Amino acid sequence: MLRIENVSKRFGGIQALKNVSFEVKEGEIHALIGPNGAGKTTMFDIINGFIRPTSGHVYFKGKRIDGLRPSRIAMMGMGRTFQIVRVFPEMTVLENVLAGIGKKIYKSLKVFTEIVKSEENVKKAMKLIELCGLSKYADQEASVLPLGIQRNIEIARALATGADFLLLDEPASGLNDQETKNLADLIRRINENGTTVLFIEHDMRFTMGLAHTITVLDHGEKIAHGKPEEIVRNERVIEAYLGKSTSK
Ligand SMILES: Nc1ncnc2c1ncn2[C@@H]1O[C@H](COP(=O)(O)OP(=O)(O)O)[C@@H](O)[C@H]1O
Ligand SMILES: [Mg+2]
Repeated sequence: MLRIENVSKRFGGIQALKNVSFEVKEGEIHALIGPNGAGKTTMFDIINGFIRPTSGHVYFKGKRIDGLRPSRIAMMGMGRTFQIVRVFPEMTVLENVLAGIGKKIYKSLKVFTEIVKSEENVKKAMKLIELCGLSKYADQEASVLPLGIQRNIEIARALATGADFLLLDEPASGLNDQETKNLADLIRRINENGTTVLFIEHDMRFTMGLAHTITVLDHGEKIAHGKPEEIVRNERVIEAYLGKSTSK
């Protein structure tokens, strides 16, 4: 589904990523973890086309995508949510999801907020709203809803674009225990429905219980890759990360 090949990124004097390679297989829930400043968000920005790598390549569904615009990559089936939640605050939940559907027909993300409230679109949106546990909030304004619900709205909107691959940047951050549990259930549900997921997360309990595969970055370098049970036992990971911060 996704192949990262020797990706490096330099911001002036900062080497944010150094020769990182890994793969996300179709059908997988894959986690990208590592201490603050490790280069995780930079990697996401490269994958969805916000920034270009200084060197290296990114392949999505077998096609090279580094250098393509984010809107082009989105149209190939890649969706994303953000570290700081970004719902359209004054729209209802239904309208937020409809905006995702509308995006498919436009070339630019600038008109992402235009919605087409056709019967067909509403039906499709309501299906996703149900999948994401949002049925009772459909007609409520997004901004008044709790953070946990807003994260689900972002996921529903990303799926509405037709994405079968989702990038989730710290989806559990700021959520309470119950909301975190619900989020893990939702991610499992959409994965069972055919969505491949790559997520960044600090919450280790959440990550270990959810991910099939984990890639670990530290100071811009990949230091480990494997199943959760391998990662928790990996000496380099314990030294760089787990030993210092087990919870948040
Ligand atoms: N736009 C930018 N300009 C300059 N430096 C940046 C930029 N984005 C990220 N960095 C730097 O790159 C490094 C990796 O950052 P980031 O990818 O946000 O880490 P993480 O998400 O793992 O916490 C940090 O040292 C950060 O300060
Ligand atoms: Mg980050």
